[in-house]
Formats: sequence, C-alpha cells, structure tokens
Amino acid sequence: MIIGVVGAGTMGAGIAEVFARTEGYTAKLADISREHAEKGRNRVLAGLDKRVAKGSATQAQRDAVAASLVVADVAELGDADLIVEAVLETMTIKRPLFEQLDALAKEGAILASNTSSLSITELARGLGHAVGGMHFFNPAPVMKLVEVTAGASTTEETVATITQIAEAVGKTPVRVEEAAGFVVNRILVPMINEAVGVLADGVASAADIDEAMKLGANHPIGPLALGDLIGLDVTLAIMEVLQAETGDPKYRAHPLLRKYVRAGWLGRKTGRGFFQYA
Ligand code: CAA
Repeated sequence: MIIGVVGAGTMGAGIAEVFARTEGYTAKLADISREHAEKGRNRVLAGLDKRVAKGSATQAQRDAVAASLVVADVAELGDADLIVEAVLETMTIKRPLFEQLDALAKEGAILASNTSSLSITELARGLGHAVGGMHFFNPAPVMKLVEVTAGASTTEETVATITQIAEAVGKTPVRVEEAAGFVVNRILVPMINEAVGVLADGVASAADIDEAMKLGANHPIGPLALGDLIGLDVTLAIMEVLQAETGDPKYRAHPLLRKYVRAGWLGRKTGRGFFQYA
C-alpha cells in the first residue's frame, strides 16, 4: 500500500516512519520542497541509527525503513491509496492543500488529516475524495493512539478503512466525532495551559511543577515538558481553537504561553521552551 504523507515536521516524519516500518507499506514523504522532505527523512533515520546503537532496534529494521520511506513532491502523490496531511495547524494552509490533493489523488484514495483540533467537515467541503481524520500523537512512532475523526461528510466506510489501516500499522484507534480538540487535546492542552498559569503565579518552579505531576499523578513527563514536546506554538493554537469554537472563557490561553511563543521559545524544536534542550 502506498501512503502519501504531506508535512515533514515532527509529526509528519514520525507518521511516515510508522508506515514505512510496516511490511507492505511505502511512505512517500512530501513538504513544500524536496529539501524539507529530505530533512524529515534524515531525522527519522538519525533517530533509528541512535536506537540501533542503543540496541533497541536492529540494523535490518533501520534499513527497512530507509528503503520504504521515500521523498516525493506533493505532485507525485497521485498513486497513493491514502494521503495523510500533517502540515501547519491552520485552516488557511490546510484547506488549499486539500483542494490540491483532491485534484491529484487517484480515484478511491482517502485524504486524511492529522489535525489535532480543526474541522474535518471544513477540510472536506466540496471535495470529490473521501476525507477523514487520522490523528496521531507525539512521538508518533511510540504513541499507540490514533483518533479517527469523522466530519459531516465522512462515511462509515471511510472511518472503517482508516481504522483498519491504523490497526495494520500497530496503532489503537478510537472513533471520535468532530469536536474542537477531539478527546485527548480537549483534556490535555488545558492541563498544560493550567500548568503555565501555576508557573506564572509563582506557585512552584517549572521543574517542581513537572516533578509534582509525574509523582503525584503518574504522568510519564510533566505538563510543561509535554508542552515543550508538543511545541508551545501548537499548544497555543489548540487553546485558541478551543476558545474560538466554544466561546468558553475557560479555554483562555495563558498570557505567559503567548509570551513564550512570541519570543520564539517553542520548546524542543527551538532548543528552548519552559526547559532548555541541547
Ligand atoms: N521518535 C521515535 N522514538 C522515540 C521518540 C521520538 N521522537 N522519543 C522517544 N522515542 C522512543 C525511544 O527511542 C525509546 O525507544 P526504545 O526504548 O526502543 O529505545 C522509547 O521511545 C522511550 O524513550 P526514552 O527512554 O528516551 O524516554 P521516555 O521513557 O521518557 O519515553 C516518551 C519518552 C514515550 C515520549 C514519554 O516521555 C511519554 O510518554 N511522554 C508523553 C507523551 C505524550 O503525552 N504525548 C502526547 C502529546 S499530545 C499530542 O501529541 C496530540 C497533539 O495533537 C498535540
């Protein structure tokens, strides 16, 4: 099966790895340029090289991903059975991309979005191809969950196909109706925003807030480190969608979160967020 992945950032590259490591799947990774896509592919292979050195992956597994993860232009995704979009989380970028994909995808192909909070209904409006949501979690190669999201025009057949593919690549899908933030982000992102508020109020240091949530709530990493992992720009964008969609002031993004994003301190990807990264 050929899978197109558009967007070679953290999520897109990780998603491409998930497909490429599954026997019988080829992942074609595209971005605004081949260079961007190549960078994403190189990050995947560098991560696998580290795991091989650590002994948690074999050279054969690494080489299998290298063989099945190919770089492509968006225009070359016409042979894909499924195209997963994982570009920036704004409708003004995603919607024209879906129109472009609709024009080039082969008959019967499914267009899926990895959106974490935007409307599948709006992405699908007026398109000839089936559209659904296939929301992976960061880091995509590790996290088991896929939220399979349905918009107004997403058929049960499309939901079933995306669900089967998610299972085939080793994920556990849950069916989610269209709603801002779906299930996980509606709960998780306000928690991160609240942790930013706890920090801004001087209740505890960033390190102690995270230590408290790890030890007191059994979270694998603390909320501020999680914001850094997701990306503080993405975290802010999700809060803004939650607030815009519901009009509920409880989803107000904390000003300190906004300030970090304005400063370009976006978390791991920029080397600095609430914590510093090498
Ligand atoms: N890509 C590929 N593999 C990765 C990885 C990455 N970015 N990060 C970690 N891994 C792998 C490691 O290689 C390691 O695998 P091996 O044991 O086979 O070598 C394994 O994951 C564990 O990694 P570590 O030992 O380095 O670190 P850890 O035990 O702290 O686990 C973690 C890392 C799995 C990320 C863990 O910290 C965790 O579960 N964190 C919470 C993640 C989470 O909540 N994600 C959801 C974010 S919300 C979201 O994504 C939705 C959205 O739309 C914004």
